[in-house]
Amino acid sequence: MRKNRDYWNSVAHHWVEMGERQWNSPPNWGFWGETDDSFNLLPTDMTGMKVIELGCGTAYVSAWMSRRGANVTAIDISGAQLATARHLAKKHDVEIALIEASAENVPLDDSLFDFAISEYGAAIWCDPDRWIPEAARLLRPGGTLVFIGNHPMVWVETPPDGSPCEARFHRPYRGLNRADWTHVEFDPGGIEFNRTMEDWLALFRNTGFQILDYRELYAPNDSEGIAFSVPADWARSWPAAQVWKLQKQV
Ligand SMILES: C[S@@+](CC[C@H](N)C(=O)[O-])C[C@H]1O[C@@H](n2cnc3c(N)ncnc32)[C@H](O)[C@@H]1O
Repeated sequence: MRKNRDYWNSVAHHWVEMGERQWNSPPNWGFWGETDDSFNLLPTDMTGMKVIELGCGTAYVSAWMSRRGANVTAIDISGAQLATARHLAKKHDVEIALIEASAENVPLDDSLFDFAISEYGAAIWCDPDRWIPEAARLLRPGGTLVFIGNHPMVWVETPPDGSPCEARFHRPYRGLNRADWTHVEFDPGGIEFNRTMEDWLALFRNTGFQILDYRELYAPNDSEGIAFSVPADWARSWPAAQVWKLQKQV
């Protein structure tokens, strides 16, 4: 957590431009900006819903939810990311309760929220054994958790030096858990987390979540280039992202 907080505080200035762009955009998902119509991750009408974004960064997903009528709380571990979020919320006159905290240990009461979401926030930067139970605690029975993050295929096909993924296995799938990118040669980052499908399913079962939907995102046919070390060419054959939609059991 400490390493990831320091990393995000040090790179937050690189994310301002993307944050500004996304605050001005309609909801879109994944590295190639698929529109909401095709994924339906956010309810169209969120009027009166109490929602929380876990690892909000510049908080554009929170802005999208607020514009659909939700009452939004957003947390992030990086004060620098939250400073951008605060600036953009003021500029766009959008009300979001921004809290500096870890999604692994949220300083809020149980069962407060109808809906929780993470878009490459807690979804990849927090230990699932900690943040998934925390999301379950924060949701009311029947509440929804949606999260989008890197697909396990991205991990197993990324070379150990952090260079773009390729059509070759570089690490075992079995036991997939935690990857430390702090000292890699290409684009050093923080510490990320993922699970095998079997382990995700066991975790959801043990924390009282039912699966409403699961999607795998590929690159669209007309996409090109490399997004966050995932080449579009590669992601036409292997999924770049996984999207889980879960419901806390009543
Ligand atoms: C790629 S951003 C995703 C957020 C947002 N969708 C965006 O792109 O601005 C990842 C965010 O996760 C946050 N983060 C990392 N570890 C966290 C933790 N333990 N708790 C809450 N947020 C965390 C980082 O500070 C960063 O703002």
